Amino acid sequence: MSMIAIEHLTKTFPGASAVTALADVSLSIESGEIFGIIGLSGAGKSTLVRCMNLLERPTSGSVRINGAELTKLPERELRKARQSIGMIFQSFNLLDQRTALDNVCFPLELSGMSRSEARKKALPFLKLVGLENREKAYPVQLSGGQKQRVAIARTLVTDPKVILCDEATSALDPTTTQAILALLKKLNEKLGVTVVVITHEMTVVEQICDRVAIIADSHIVEQGVVADVFHHPKTAEARQLITPKGAISEKSRIHGPLYRITFDGNTSDQPVVSGMVLTSGAPVNIWYADTKDIDGKAHGQMLLELPKDPALVNKMLAFLKSQHVTYEKEEAEYYG
Ligand SMILES: Nc1ncnc2c1ncn2[C@@H]1O[C@H](COP(=O)(O)OP(=O)(O)OP(=O)(O)O)[C@@H](O)[C@H]1O
Ligand SMILES: [Mg+2]
Repeated sequence: MSMIAIEHLTKTFPGASAVTALADVSLSIESGEIFGIIGLSGAGKSTLVRCMNLLERPTSGSVRINGAELTKLPERELRKARQSIGMIFQSFNLLDQRTALDNVCFPLELSGMSRSEARKKALPFLKLVGLENREKAYPVQLSGGQKQRVAIARTLVTDPKVILCDEATSALDPTTTQAILALLKKLNEKLGVTVVVITHEMTVVEQICDRVAIIADSHIVEQGVVADVFHHPKTAEARQLITPKGAISEKSRIHGPLYRITFDGNTSDQPVVSGMVLTSGAPVNIWYADTKDIDGKAHGQMLLELPKDPALVNKMLAFLKSQHVTYEKEEAEYYG
């Protein structure tokens, strides 16, 4: 059964110049998965996660979490259902006057638990996020990564089934981002909690998500397994996210066809590109490369501009085939 099922969700913010932030969005997220939602600024990502816990009420459509249709619940039951949905933000949202431990206690105290009882329950969660020695620290005394750990512990203490992360690592440096993503992954595996990751960064999705949806201009334009969507984008919107526009200047173009080649760990990338050039005797342009080297084998993709001459192109493609590298022709107009 899906943990989160959204059907035909539309959200319009009324007003003189009404904004439709989400238009007919349908999405299904399975229990225990890490699901990414990626899109450019203003695409509707935050509105979508805020609709998942009804912080924002949809204009139409349904939001089902763990079997309960949230839009139909009376206020009291909605409050209860919301307790199973944790949320973390880019800005951490900690209470400055409370210590790390007392921040984690806060939701428990809100639900009527005594402070001493709450502390007893909260402490293991601080441990779980790696902050057992900082329980007495105030937020100003903590680094960004540590603050986000406190926020994650504060979410976990209420035993959520789902954690919604809205740009949770966007304010952090790359190393701290890695650590927080690894923590989310660990919690997902250890506690079985379903994680929804909202981001504008591809690398975040690549690192921890099982599946991804691309949102552009209020619509979901593609969704699926991360490798499928990122290696074989079907829409212009997805390509724009995956291959930033303007990667190469007009001056350096050789005006040949564009090919997206995908490395799936069978070969190293450098010899493939130099091999293409050597076998054909013609240069190529690397428009964009996003490959990672794992044990000497490349994973990821490159966008290459091949020579104008079709005979040379065929030679290069034959070489790629012989190296078991997959390729797809790209629509050049889009990048023009
Ligand atoms: N409370 C609101 N009232 C009116 N319009 C809103 C409101 N919240 C969001 N919008 C509009 O809805 C659209 C989607 O906004 P949203 O915050 O969901 O985008 P986003 O994808 O999260 O962007 P970012 O990456 O910049 O956070 C934008 O055009 C925004 O101006
Ligand atoms: Mg946002």
